[in-house]
Amino acid sequence: MVKIINPVTGGTVAETVYDTLETLKEAVSKAGAAQGKWQKLSFKERGLHLSRIRSVIVKHADELTSTISSVTGKSGIDAITTEILSAVIASRYYIKLAKRVLKPEKVRRSSIFFFNKKAYVYHEPYGVIGIISPWNYPFIIPFHEIMMALTAGNTVILKVATQSQPVGKLIQTIFDEADLPANIIRVVNLPGKITGKAFIDAGIDKILFTGSTETGREIAALAGKNLVPVSFELGGSDAMIILPDANLKRAVNGALWAGLSNSGQSCGGVERIYAADSVYDKFKELLLENVKKIRIGPTDGSGTEIGPLTTEKQKEKVSGHVEDAVRKGARVIYRSGVPPGKNSSGFFYPVTILENVPADAPVMQEETFGPVIVLERVKDESEIVRKANDSPLGLTSSLWTSSRKKASYLPRLLETGVVSVNDHLMSHGMPETPWGGYKDSGHSITHGKWGLYEVTRVKVVVHEKFPWTQRDPWWYPHDKGLYKKFKSVLFLLGGQAGRGDRTGREGNKKKAGIFKRISRFTGAVMDMFKIILRFF
Ligand code: NAI
Ligand code: MG
Repeated sequence: MVKIINPVTGGTVAETVYDTLETLKEAVSKAGAAQGKWQKLSFKERGLHLSRIRSVIVKHADELTSTISSVTGKSGIDAITTEILSAVIASRYYIKLAKRVLKPEKVRRSSIFFFNKKAYVYHEPYGVIGIISPWNYPFIIPFHEIMMALTAGNTVILKVATQSQPVGKLIQTIFDEADLPANIIRVVNLPGKITGKAFIDAGIDKILFTGSTETGREIAALAGKNLVPVSFELGGSDAMIILPDANLKRAVNGALWAGLSNSGQSCGGVERIYAADSVYDKFKELLLENVKKIRIGPTDGSGTEIGPLTTEKQKEKVSGHVEDAVRKGARVIYRSGVPPGKNSSGFFYPVTILENVPADAPVMQEETFGPVIVLERVKDESEIVRKANDSPLGLTSSLWTSSRKKASYLPRLLETGVVSVNDHLMSHGMPETPWGGYKDSGHSITHGKWGLYEVTRVKVVVHEKFPWTQRDPWWYPHDKGLYKKFKSVLFLLGGQAGRGDRTGREGNKKKAGIFKRISRFTGAVMDMFKIILRFF
């Protein structure tokens, strides 16, 4: 029996029992058996099944909100906007998109040389996809992946973080109530540390992992040994860049939302703010004025914006980063209170804004994942880009400016998979935009058509157009003049100035006369015909 702790009160919200490895094996084998039939359905038929999910989500909206809030500590408004609303939008989108982008494609021929071939590309599902998801967005992260996997014709085994088991259970309920074919999705409950190996041993065909860089490395090592494909969506330590011409009011509001919502526990949350020298003081003044208005406390609908951290371990990590920075000379320019009294046993951590932090402090180099924002003054564009990129992580970043020109070239210089201009973090909720990091933030893409490609593998089928012919020209036997004939083809396709011996540099220097060139050209065309005769 594992206790799931309510981060607001420190009390128990639920108790959960882990599944056994036998249960997992059985679930994977049933999902494997169900997959064949599911794949055979047309996109339209699968879409009809899956479109029932939307109304079930709407029906369970309040229960989902309260369950998500009770295990993460996030506010109901955070839950309904970033998790539930996003899920409804995404489900509709993937159903339509899969039909459009995963249908078989005819491949355009590269050259007349292949006039006798035609090729088609099929996007085939992997089979059983194993999804491993984190606790910070316990509903929307697995939900996107489930929808992508299912619309593409895979079946799914989902393991959510232990802390978010109650949300995992609700995910199973929602898919069950939508009356989908049996065994196309099964939520299992396993301890994290055994899941990677257990998934691989049970015969999962591909793993979609979202979580920390550290766990990502562990799974990569395991999967490497067995050559099991894995997608990685890992941690971030996002930079926000404020240029002199930014709308500072919008920038401040954006920084507070993207830095603090979900108590800063967003993979693409703002952790480092670099503001240009000329606006630094004004930005800081506005930020301090506005951060004071943010209310921190139990997120039970009593009008607070920010709740506690989700786990005690997370609280220790965040306070460790801040204490370390302060020891190294950082200035705390703002620290909120935490709710007093009976709530003090929860995992609340004060909203904290730091300045003067050394570049090598963990709060700058690692993912802090808490309500902590670092401010830094930068002098010019090249320093801004250098500092924003000075991180082993590269998930997302943002640029705040009113200059269209800067908005067009600066994002290209930032080493992150997503760059937002005058916004931050929210594109995770737009299912049409790809999401994925550079560097230690992972090397995969989720969402959009690129996410659908990630849950499918490419199969090409190449057809000979004239199967009644004897052979392709390069097949056996190889006769004596064949090399010269192929060299003529090379000359024709390569557009060179001479035939055979004239393709070298020497030949190009000394231009041949017009008659000579015509005769060479005709000779090459003749050779080409002789090659065509080899088909028969
Ligand atoms: P985590 O890495 O501790 O756990 C993630 C999941 O992996 C959990 O379900 C856990 O039980 C499981 N797990 C742990 N060890 C495992 C192993 N050896 N084999 C297989 N599974 C294992 O991450 P956590 O603390 O749950 O989530 C926070 C992290 O997730 C942060 O680093 C955050 O940035 C990252 N994240 C990344 C996102 C992205 O899109 N790039 C989105 C959301 C979170
Ligand atoms: Mg940090």
